[in-house]
Amino acid sequence: MAPPDPILGVSEAFRADTHEMKLNLGVGAYRTEDLQPYVLNVVKKAENLMLERGENKEYLPIEGLAAFNKVTAELLLGAQNDVIQQQRVATVQGLSGTGSLRLAAALIERYFSGSKVLISSPTWGNHKNIFNDARVPWSEYRYYDPRTVGLDFHGMISDIKAAPEGSFVLLHGCAHNPTGIDPTPEQWESIADVIQEKNHIPFFDVAYQGFASGSLDTDASSVRLFAARGMEFLVAQSYSKNLGLYAERIGAINVVCSSSDIAKRVKSQLKRLARPMYSNPPIHGARIVANVVGNPELFNDWKEEMELMAGRIKSVRKKLYDSLSAKDNSGKDWSFVLKQIGMFSFTGLNDAQSENMTNKWHVYMTKDGRISLAGLSSAKCEYLADAIIDSYYNIS
Ligand SMILES: Cc1ncc(COP(=O)(O)O)c(C=O)c1O
Repeated sequence: MAPPDPILGVSEAFRADTHEMKLNLGVGAYRTEDLQPYVLNVVKKAENLMLERGENKEYLPIEGLAAFNKVTAELLLGAQNDVIQQQRVATVQGLSGTGSLRLAAALIERYFSGSKVLISSPTWGNHKNIFNDARVPWSEYRYYDPRTVGLDFHGMISDIKAAPEGSFVLLHGCAHNPTGIDPTPEQWESIADVIQEKNHIPFFDVAYQGFASGSLDTDASSVRLFAARGMEFLVAQSYSKNLGLYAERIGAINVVCSSSDIAKRVKSQLKRLARPMYSNPPIHGARIVANVVGNPELFNDWKEEMELMAGRIKSVRKKLYDSLSAKDNSGKDWSFVLKQIGMFSFTGLNDAQSENMTNKWHVYMTKDGRISLAGLSSAKCEYLADAIIDSYYNIS
């Protein structure tokens, strides 16, 4: 028997629990205030349009839907960006964020053999799996400082500096998972400086564009900063969270190159790698994205809906902070909950404390102390605060 998956296994245990206050804060999936899954209205509109047009279900080319590849690169980098205008981006549709990361990992394994990938510590639970699966060596750079529940900026810079020249540096474009802690714009500049100095290759994972701040452009600013420097880099994108297309498996891998000729070659190699893995990608999610991003009216609808989703998460974040501060008389500073960005909060709870959250309070979460605020309702903020305070002070 293989062990259960540390994140998806949490949802299985949650389903089996019958307690009325149970909360699933394990998986990073958006829920409404009633804690129900949410299909965006703009997605339903796009699907209606698709149905009316009576589109067929023929195979896509290996690289995916052309209209999707165009809009996804533009959404990431900005349509007017030099790298787009000069056709320097190789974009291939992927099987959501995970599949896009996996395809890039295959590219690294095939053409950069001996190079390693630097991964933040901690990171999203599947990153190490993906590189292990592709037989790409990796090591970690410091990212999280438990003393401040903030970024270990100096540790991060010195580890990136110490890595062998020409390493890949995996960076979370925004809303770092699991910590919810992002570098400031000035810190991003220094990160780009050291990466350039060492001839490293940045490799962005952008799974939350628009979901962190509520603005698609703001959340892409880290990636665009690297483009403005004329660097070559990779970006994996996902539409699971920002369009709620979790099960459609829609995303892309973009490789920003120094010339359009190189971009063409890179794209041909990505296609060569994709063909034996899955032949060609699924069409439904690609059409939804192409319709939403490519149609000004639907695009505006999407932005409004995304602001609502990001806003709901921000409001439960605030309410959780208020409840923690009101209930805890010890003077402990809980403001890190407010400073963190995106879906998650990294509570600083250890293994045993996280287990107490589940066993005593029916709050399902990952053992690293991460909670998904997208699975919290304002009605349950006080209950969650009680659970956190009990676990923090009564379990060591
Ligand atoms: C940082 C990060 N990268 C990638 C993904 C991939 O998700 P998906 O494969 O559903 O697009 C996630 C999902 O939680 C994530 O948090």
